[in-house]
Amino acid sequence: MKVLILNGPNLDRLDIRDSAIYGELSYQQLCDRVGDRARKIGFEPDIRQSNNESEIIGWLHEAADSSTPVIFNAAAFTHYSYAIRDAVSMLKAPVIEVHLSNPMSREEFRHTSVISGVATGSIAGFGVDSYLLALEAMRSLLQK
Ligand code: DQA
Repeated sequence: MKVLILNGPNLDRLDIRDSAIYGELSYQQLCDRVGDRARKIGFEPDIRQSNNESEIIGWLHEAADSSTPVIFNAAAFTHYSYAIRDAVSMLKAPVIEVHLSNPMSREEFRHTSVISGVATGSIAGFGVDSYLLALEAMRSLLQK
């Protein structure tokens, strides 16, 4: 079973972002960890990152058309992109929102997620484990 693991803006620069907030992993290391675990539990992972809202929306449209499940870290778009929210709301398979940090314990503008209301569920604050937990949750959802 395919799973699209989608990452939004600035996550490609994880190694130079604040490691106290985002941890020590580079984006490549994050992809390796998440990809390995996904394959281990039977998924075919497709991991993508973009800094471009319209590219992300295009990928969400593809996932909607192919009923592909999605694990999605929309990064800063989480907090204000209604266009991405509308694209997420068209997905047919489950979609799990993830964040490395816990946005609720950070600046006030991060307390709003326009994605949460259209996601199947959200996991935040566990670093790379947020993605690994999301993979487990996705597997369990798809087995039901
Ligand atoms: C993030 C949290 C967002 O607030 C932030 O803009 C990001 C990363 C996270 O994974 O913790 O870029 O989505």
